[in-house]
Amino acid sequence: MSIRNLDDLLAEGVSGRRVLVRADLNVPLDKQTGEITDDGRIRAVLPTLSALVQAGAKVVVCSHLGRPKGAPDPQFSLRPVAGRLGELLGAPVHFAEDTVGDSARSTVEGLADGQVALLENLRFNKGETSKDDAERGAFADQLAAFGDAYVDDAFGAVHRKHASVHDVPARLPHVAGRLVLREVEVLGKLTGDPERPYVVVLGGSKVSDKLAVIEALLPKVDRLLIGGGMCFTFLKAQGHEVGTSLLEEDMVETCRNLLERSGGKIMLPVDVVAADAFAPDATHDTVPADGIPSHRLGLDIGPETVAGFAAALSQAKTIFWNGPMGVFEMAAFANGTRGVAEAITKADAFSVVGGGDSAAAVRALGLDESSFGHISTGGGASLEYLEGKALPGIAALEN
Ligand code: 3PG
Ligand code: MG
Repeated sequence: MSIRNLDDLLAEGVSGRRVLVRADLNVPLDKQTGEITDDGRIRAVLPTLSALVQAGAKVVVCSHLGRPKGAPDPQFSLRPVAGRLGELLGAPVHFAEDTVGDSARSTVEGLADGQVALLENLRFNKGETSKDDAERGAFADQLAAFGDAYVDDAFGAVHRKHASVHDVPARLPHVAGRLVLREVEVLGKLTGDPERPYVVVLGGSKVSDKLAVIEALLPKVDRLLIGGGMCFTFLKAQGHEVGTSLLEEDMVETCRNLLERSGGKIMLPVDVVAADAFAPDATHDTVPADGIPSHRLGLDIGPETVAGFAAALSQAKTIFWNGPMGVFEMAAFANGTRGVAEAITKADAFSVVGGGDSAAAVRALGLDESSFGHISTGGGASLEYLEGKALPGIAALEN
């Protein structure tokens, strides 16, 4: 199925036309100061926005931020994002204090050619995430009134059946933005015929979140390396005691079954960094994976595991990584994530980092982003893509 993209729209000419761009500007904010702690998602949408600005469009950007409950909530305002976006674009971004109300209307009406507006958080409106088609549709009507054409560049949200990603494209001429196009191209390589060995590294806290993707990936990959909080449920399934580590008791049987069916493809940690508390200054030691003391919890994979994972990664020709190997936000428990990330950059492979926490980890650890083949802006979206699920935002662009 073919999807029209930004170049098709630009070829038609957008000068003086209003173009509604759905972006995913859902960036992490510092809880105390409210400052943006990682602007990767803002930078990722710049190629699309700059191209529209240069072509003289009136650019109306919309996004969600966090999970407000369908009503305005100041802690989830996009205002700081408008400021940062303006800095990066090198031109002021006109911020609307609401999404489809008076402020939005007058902001959009006031735009000159080549200017950019950002609407307030889409999720301040019940219609955005409503399960009711009519309620979503009514909100989509209001949004669609702000554009003569629609560009979806919100890859991180394409797995959501929300008004701005699923219903607005049914109401306007629609194309995929540069970011969505690139993401789909890259992930398509992984689901198609990836060059082998194909090695996947999964981390993060819960097995239950990753179960579907593990099932989908097992037949396709040559090696599946598992770290992060979810490794403890697998270690338990291997018969080891895991102390007070994160454990999904009801997933142990499932993990045992996966290990039996994996044909030896799954690699688990052989050592872990075990601490006496979940705290940056907790007393901690490296212990064998089958020797976690009963009063301790594992907060990172150990050095022997990093070496084993690195050896597997050094053989790879294709790599996908999603989820940190430990609590990388605390320096004492960041070595596993750093070690695996560095091994990925050293491998002579096409590497893809899957969104959310792992992309943030790459930047927080000061790693060179350009040494990865692609850093996805979608955590959940990239996993669902790899699961082979239909993504409402992509399907809407195909029609
Ligand atoms: C994300 O950060 O995962 C995307 O922006 C989607 O957000 P959501 O999980 O709250 O729908
Ligand atoms: Mg999410």
